[in-house]
Amino acid sequence: MSFDLQALINSRNGENVALQRENINPQFARVLRLIGFDKVYVRGLGQYLYDEEDSEYLDMLGGYAVHNVGRNHPVVIRALKDLMDSQPATLVQMDAPLLSGLLAERLKELTPQTLDTVYFTNSGTEGVETAIKFARKKTRRPRVLFCDHSFHGLSNGSLSLNTDESYRTGFDPLLPGCEKVALNDTAAAAAELEREDVAAFVLEPVQGKGVFIARDEYLREVRELCSRHGTVLVFDEVQTGFGRTGRMFAMEHSGVEPDILVLSKALSAGLVPVGAVLTTRSIYDGVFDSLDNCVVHSSTFGQGAYAMAAGLATLHVFEEEGIVENSRRMGALLLDGLKELAGRFELISEVRGRGLMIGIELGKPSSLKLKMGWKLANKLQKGLVAQAMVMSLLADHRILAQVAGHGLEVIKLIPPLVIDESDVGRFLGAFEEVLERSHRFPGPIWEFTTRLAKHTIRR
Ligand SMILES: Cc1ncc(COP(=O)(O)O)c(C=O)c1O
Repeated sequence: MSFDLQALINSRNGENVALQRENINPQFARVLRLIGFDKVYVRGLGQYLYDEEDSEYLDMLGGYAVHNVGRNHPVVIRALKDLMDSQPATLVQMDAPLLSGLLAERLKELTPQTLDTVYFTNSGTEGVETAIKFARKKTRRPRVLFCDHSFHGLSNGSLSLNTDESYRTGFDPLLPGCEKVALNDTAAAAAELEREDVAAFVLEPVQGKGVFIARDEYLREVRELCSRHGTVLVFDEVQTGFGRTGRMFAMEHSGVEPDILVLSKALSAGLVPVGAVLTTRSIYDGVFDSLDNCVVHSSTFGQGAYAMAAGLATLHVFEEEGIVENSRRMGALLLDGLKELAGRFELISEVRGRGLMIGIELGKPSSLKLKMGWKLANKLQKGLVAQAMVMSLLADHRILAQVAGHGLEVIKLIPPLVIDESDVGRFLGAFEEVLERSHRFPGPIWEFTTRLAKHTIRR
């Protein structure tokens, strides 16, 4: 009998959360239920998702920034289908695959000349692990610096560069020699780098958790310090890469060129796991330093043909469809609209971002009534007000968004970069309505926060 995937999906659709609870992650299933995110999406196209009734949802979460060119882009789908039909000789392992060579060549064209060698990975965290290993081998130094609020992935090495205790607790001991410094504090970085025992300084030009922006001047100073003291400068552009910040890569805002650039997420249009680490020939040769060591760092699926084909097709879409320019224009429009709302609604303390990577920070209101609600919610748990607003966006407006990290009162927007003026208008209108309701105390948003807190405490 043939395997009928569609029949299987049709017969089991709707069991999604139950299957998750029974077989995968019961706590996650519980969270989805609790916050009303237990929807069943059956289709995705561009910046939209569709449920079983074919209702349309605007996706402002973008699969955590993988769907930059939009979901199921026809050009990328076509390339994958073509490859499949050609019965490719994939994962031979003892060969030099054409497609990985071509994708490496293309990535080099898009990045600074000094980054002339590419290592392919399957994920962001694998890229960061690669960067740590490469830097240590090159410098033979033990320490790695990272910034407050950073997120670089959850495997052991990357987790060691993470400041969020909720991720770290219970997984000790993490990698020794990893040291946190405050973002945008040149003196703090200098104090560590001057010891000349730091292999790598790893940072995100715009941080995913909280959307905190590294100042251009800070990055330039850090570049100079790393060069002076022999430290490998690593930019983690897993999230900021591929048009997210209104430039192809966020490093272009400052003009700073790192020694290692870590990429992943959007490179394959959200269709196949992929990642790439670009570095200098001298760092690469320091790792793969003999015939014996020619695969001293590698992974089985690293140059998989489907990932490579998706990458080539995705970069073609970037070139053809003005994706980066759209990110810049829509980002500016969204940011302007949000700033206007911030002027009218006291719960917004700051709006910040670059391109279509935007954080809306909530803060203590000044009016007496709202202050009471805010104090109460924050006493129960920080981040609940933002979470309640995100819930309302989905429940009342069919807009998918997210809170920017544990314990942060920041709503984060990282939609597919193909959103248009009407999507921006739709989001701003919906958010204005959510804000209006949040500025009424008592009111549904504040009731949400209490209910959420009760469930979390009961856990
Ligand atoms: C900046 C950054 N680095 C690394 C990672 C880890 O990537 P992955 O989840 O593919 O391991 C992420 C994921 O969100 C990220 O945002």
